[in-house]
Formats: sequence, C-alpha cells, structure tokens
Amino acid sequence: MAGFEPRTCRLQMSAVQATIPFKVKKKVNINLKKDKIVDDTLKKKQKLRRKNEDYELTYGTENDCSPPKQAKVTDNSDDDVDKENSNDQNIIADNSIKPLVGREKEIAWLENYLLDHLDNEESASLYISGQPGTGKTASLTYILNIPKIRNGYKQVYVNCTMMKSAASIYSRICSELQLKTTGSTEKACLTAIEKYFKNNHKMILLVLDEIDQLDSKRQSVLYTIFEWPSVNRKLVLVGIANALDLTERSLPRLQARCSLRPRTLHFAPYTKQQIIDIFISVLEKEDRSNVFSPVALQLLAAKIAAVSGDMRRALDIGKRVIELAKRSKFSENHCVDSMMKDDSVTVELKQVLEVLDDVYGGGRKIENDVEEGLPMQQKLVLCSIMLMLTKGKNKDLVMGKLHDVYKRVARSRNIAPLDIGEMMSACSLLEARGALRAGVGAGAGAGAGRARRLRLQWDEAELLAALQDKPLLSAILNDVSCLSSS
Ligand SMILES: Nc1ncnc2c1ncn2[C@@H]1O[C@H](COP(=O)(O)OP(=O)(O)OP(=O)(O)O)[C@@H](O)[C@H]1O
Ligand SMILES: [Mg+2]
Repeated sequence: MAGFEPRTCRLQMSAVQATIPFKVKKKVNINLKKDKIVDDTLKKKQKLRRKNEDYELTYGTENDCSPPKQAKVTDNSDDDVDKENSNDQNIIADNSIKPLVGREKEIAWLENYLLDHLDNEESASLYISGQPGTGKTASLTYILNIPKIRNGYKQVYVNCTMMKSAASIYSRICSELQLKTTGSTEKACLTAIEKYFKNNHKMILLVLDEIDQLDSKRQSVLYTIFEWPSVNRKLVLVGIANALDLTERSLPRLQARCSLRPRTLHFAPYTKQQIIDIFISVLEKEDRSNVFSPVALQLLAAKIAAVSGDMRRALDIGKRVIELAKRSKFSENHCVDSMMKDDSVTVELKQVLEVLDDVYGGGRKIENDVEEGLPMQQKLVLCSIMLMLTKGKNKDLVMGKLHDVYKRVARSRNIAPLDIGEMMSACSLLEARGALRAGVGAGAGAGAGRARRLRLQWDEAELLAALQDKPLLSAILNDVSCLSSS
C-alpha cells in the first residue's frame, strides 16, 4: 500500500482484539488491571465471536507441527469453520491474493528461488534470518501455499521449537514423507530418509523453522540435514532463525565448503511506514467501522519501528490500545451490550501513549540516552554487553569477562580502555540510569570484583535498535573477534 493517507487511517479496528494473529509463546504480558468485570464480560463475548472470526496462525504440538495456517479473514458460518477445519484446506488456493504487505520483495525473491530450483530439479539450501516478528514464518506460510510451489514440491515443515531430540526431527520428516521405519530411533528414521532420497522422488521442500531453538547438542542434527542437499538431488532446504550469522557461528563447517554454504536471505525489521501499511491492510480486511486516529497509528508505528520493528509486538499493542479505547467508552455509557456492538470507538493518541508507557516504562527513551546522554566509554560498555548477549556463547555477564571484551572493543576502535576499577565506576553510572544491575544473584552468586555479576535492565531490543542507529556502535555489535582473545 502506498502512503499513509489520513482519510484511510480512520481505520476499522474493533475486530483486532479477536482476530489479530498472535503467537502465544512470544506474547508480551502486560496487565491492564482495570475494570475486571468488564474484562470478564468482554472475554465471554470474545469467546463467542471468535468461532466466526478466528484467523490466528496455529502452531502444533510436537506431534503436530505442520505449517501454520495462513491468516484468513472469514465471515463464514459455523458450518464453514467446521468444514475448513476438517478438510485442512489450503487457504490460499488463489494466487491472486496479494503477498503480505511489507514483504513483497522477499516473497518475490523466495518464489523465484524455489521455482527456479523446481524447474531445474536442483538441490539447494537457504538460510533465512530476521528478528522476531519480522514476518519470516508468515511469508513462508504464504509461499508454501502458492499453487505452483504447493503442487510442485513435496513439502515438509518442521518447527524446531517442538523438537525435543534429533530423533523427533527425523521422525517428523519420516511421517511427513510417509516413510515406513523399522523403529522410532534416530538411526532407524535417518536410514529410512536416506533410503528415500536414493529413490526417484518428487522435489522436496524441507523447511526447518526456528532452528536457533535447538540447543547446541541438538544442533549437530543441523549438520546432517544441511549436508543433505549436497549429497542428494531434488531437495531444497530452508532454515529459519533470528540470528544473522547462525550458520557461521553454529555450523562453521558448512561455511568452509562452498557446496554446502547456504544462500542467505535477511528479513529486516519493519519500518514505520511498513507497520502503518500492515495495520491498514489488516484492518481493511476486517471491514469494521471502528476508527483508529491517524496520529495514534503514526505514533504506535513509529515507536515499534524505533524499538524493534516487530509486527507481533505492534499487533499486540494495537489490540491493547483498542481494549483501552473500548473501556474508556464504556466508562462513558456504562453498557456492555452497546459497547460490544459499538464499532465507532476511536483510538486516540492518549490511549496509545498510555499503553506504550505501560509497555516501555515511563516514557523513557533509550534512544535519547544513547544519542546524547551517555559518554562514549559508557556506550562502549553497553555495546560490549550487547555483543556478549547477542553473539557470545556464554551469556553470563561477569565483570571480569566484560572488561576483557570491553578492552578489545575499545582498542579495536583506537580508544584507550578504562582499567577495571574505572570500568566498574562506569557500570555504576549506568546502574544509576537504570540500564544495568550489578551484583545480581543471591549471596555468593552475586560475586565481587571481577566475579561480580551484571544484568542488563533496559529492554534488549530497544537498546539494540538505539545502538544500531550509530555506525561506530553498530559495527561493534557485530565484531565477534572482540569476544575472544584469539
Ligand atoms: N507483513 C505482515 N502482514 C500482516 N501480519 C504480519 C506481517 N508480518 C508479520 N505479521 C504478523 O506478525 C506476527 C509475527 O509474524 P511471524 O510469526 O511471521 O514472525 P517471525 O519473523 O516468524 O518471528 P519469530 O522469529 O519470532 O518466529 C504474526 O502474527 C504475523 O501474522
Ligand atoms: Mg517464526
């Protein structure tokens, strides 16, 4: 969708609270403790409505981790809902439905990539990275439902969050490929899969979502799987995770051999305009008469884009804002029924501010702190902490280790490093700002001197966004060479 036009921003949003697709496991919990009675009534009514309106992405259990169903807007009757559930239909049977707003380029690239390999019957591997809520799973879900890809490939989707062991991953692949195995052990499943590859089979599209959820022990399974495309024909493997460099960090052997190195595709955080466009498109589909004031949506989108570009978070906050607007309206007319029927609720700036304040704490702006409030040495300490937290193997923040990393960071930027006592003073100043907490842990666990433990108090995503804005600082965040002495 093109620009943000004030007229189109008088959006219809009432349905959002029941229908915005939220991913439960990563949901942020914010307690709006007001009006419990209203809340309960709302919940009951929403439950009733949800049957008709629900279009959440669904995530399976370990036994059922098929690809999430594509978000869908329905006005169907209960019968239709049942029919759809029982048939497990592909919802995007019609390619005329537009790709996800804001992800048109990535989707077009992916579609071409997959169709090319399908036409040439060529194996390949691809690694998709991107911060939480940047639409990776949603885009893949869309792609998997494009008729040519759905019909051309035998698709296997595995969400690794559900997988407890290598055996369960292989077993999941076996059951998707409908392979008979001699048992349920890792070896039996692996043998069955490898035997299947040797036969003449349809092109396979294997999607492993959230591969960073596998702990290091189970990550060895990734080596085996990422090696498959180089030794088998007709297999396209797509791995999805948050980290930009997961394959380099966790699977260095793959990088060493050209034939095994996966192509990469990065999903950047959503920009403010993309977030606005997505809201507009989601709400337009709802065809509701409620209203979201332009300035309120602008503010919400600007904040999310500055903090994380996370659409899951944006939709979650959108939902809360509407709940709040409805509550305010209720306090005016005191009638639950009319409140539920009333689509004319207007979300105003003050409601967005109130929820943002609740979510991000006191309206404090980390960007401002990083922009002008902090001396360079404190910024370097924060960057070193973020480097350790995002790229380090061991996420324990201990003063001595932090000083080692910080020294390398400072020297590599030609800045004279503080000694450990001075750095501890810098940490105390950061503590006073609420950025850190030192001496965390009970009793001896809290540590002293070099063994003193630290915890980042600021929101990691918000700090990362603020630091990434500055070229010098953002380079540090990716400088893994500062993590070790070698
Ligand atoms: N472009 C978009 N249009 C509409 N909804 C979107 C869009 N992008 C993301 N969403 C919604 O935001 C939520 C998060 O998206 P998704 O699950 O695809 O993120 P992700 O990148 O896979 O995140 P994670 O790394 O946490 O798995 C979903 O509810 C999804 O429907
Ligand atoms: Mg995902």
